[in-house]
Amino acid sequence: MQKKIDHIGIAVKSLEEAAAFYREVLGLTCEKVETVESQGVRTAHYPIGDTRLELLEAISAESPIARFIEKHGEGLHHIAYACDDIDAQLRLAEKMGCRLLHEQPVAGAGGKLIAFLHPKSTFGVLTEFCTGED
Ligand code: CO
Repeated sequence: MQKKIDHIGIAVKSLEEAAAFYREVLGLTCEKVETVESQGVRTAHYPIGDTRLELLEAISAESPIARFIEKHGEGLHHIAYACDDIDAQLRLAEKMGCRLLHEQPVAGAGGKLIAFLHPKSTFGVLTEFCTGED
């Protein structure tokens, strides 16, 4: 049902501080920086192959990213799978016993619809489903 990994989310304290590593060591180009108020984050997109790395910086102390960094430090935050039918994918995950963080898809970066599964029900990886064009 998933066509590809849409993006890999990485929590960082500062997009600016992390940029040199992604640009100069990995040779990637930042395609865009976007604030997603609903998720409490500012994101920087680095395309690589058919997917992209998405650096996530908290925009407030209440942001899920701020809480994540407090608990785990900076690092891998989530994997997002592109879905043709996000509603069907969510219902399937629910039926298979996954814990949904969103009962229904919500608006994410780039106007896409997104929904998360709790990592406790996905073998430790915060899992995002997303749909929509880049
Ligand atoms: Co994401």
